[in-house]
Amino acid sequence: MDVVKPLKINTVLITGASSGIGLQLAQDYLALGWHVIACGRSQERLDALALNELVGATLLIFDISQRDQVQQAGQDLAELLAKTDCQLDLVVLNAGSCEYIDDAKAFDDVLFERVVHTNLIAMGYCLGAFLPLMPRGSRIGLMSSSAIYLPFPRAEAYGASKAGVQYLASSLSLDLAKNDIGVSLICPGFVATPLTAKNDFSMPMQVSVQTASKAIRNGLKGGKREIHFPRRFTYLLKLMSFLPAFVWQKMIANDTQAKPLKDKSL
Ligand SMILES: NC(=O)c1ccc[n+]([C@@H]2O[C@H](COP(=O)([O-])OP(=O)(O)OC[C@H]3O[C@@H](n4cnc5c(N)ncnc54)[C@H](OP(=O)(O)O)[C@@H]3O)[C@@H](O)[C@H]2O)c1
Repeated sequence: MDVVKPLKINTVLITGASSGIGLQLAQDYLALGWHVIACGRSQERLDALALNELVGATLLIFDISQRDQVQQAGQDLAELLAKTDCQLDLVVLNAGSCEYIDDAKAFDDVLFERVVHTNLIAMGYCLGAFLPLMPRGSRIGLMSSSAIYLPFPRAEAYGASKAGVQYLASSLSLDLAKNDIGVSLICPGFVATPLTAKNDFSMPMQVSVQTASKAIRNGLKGGKREIHFPRRFTYLLKLMSFLPAFVWQKMIANDTQAKPLKDKSL
């Protein structure tokens, strides 16, 4: 971890601050005068972004999927908070990955484990390390996805991991109420980032990282339990999920060439 930076009133910790949505969030909170604890697994990558040179930024390097590294990060953070007299007002557990199951019949269980580990289990490691440091009145944002509203083809691993995050957030929200710690589930539609740049399919209503960051920051500030955007896209998915399964299966299949299931009980 880098040397202590000037004290700021508001402190936010963001995982996955080296790219995409997390990087934009870090830059925007810094511009707003927050103390940002920018987390990434690669010192080199974070150094290249020169985030560290901005006033108010502190780098914390760890791989979220490695429990020992996350625990060490928690200890380093506790020392930093004690030294600077800062308090952790906001934590955004944003880091994640997306990989698709190309052939469900030859199910890639290793890929499945890897994605669920990064997106869900590692979030548990971060909660274990950072929640004890969060005071009353603070808030935690958990990154899920609009993929939880409707199943998409090839998203068995990604969708399952993000649906797990949804349940985690709902349950946490109940249990942390007594500690006065708010929980927000974050469900973006398609956002233009290096993660989606790899996609080989159409991504309707895709938004920029700037739009995503604004929606997330506004939602967190407003204490929203569920932050979803762009609204036209997410409401459409939510609406479709109320239709009989064969209807949306057909619509998705038409769009993606996937074959609709014949089992009407689904
Ligand atoms: N983009 C979208 O359309 C979209 C939509 C819904 C949800 N999301 C979610 O939003 C989050 C951010 O996605 P993004 O689009 O901004 O992707 P991105 O540009 O690929 O950024 C992902 C970030 O997570 C970090 N990360 C991944 N695995 C990590 C690990 N094991 N340890 C530490 N850091 C790790 C990456 O670090 P490195 O730089 O070291 O790789 C990077 O900073 C993800 O959870 C994603 O599922 C994205």
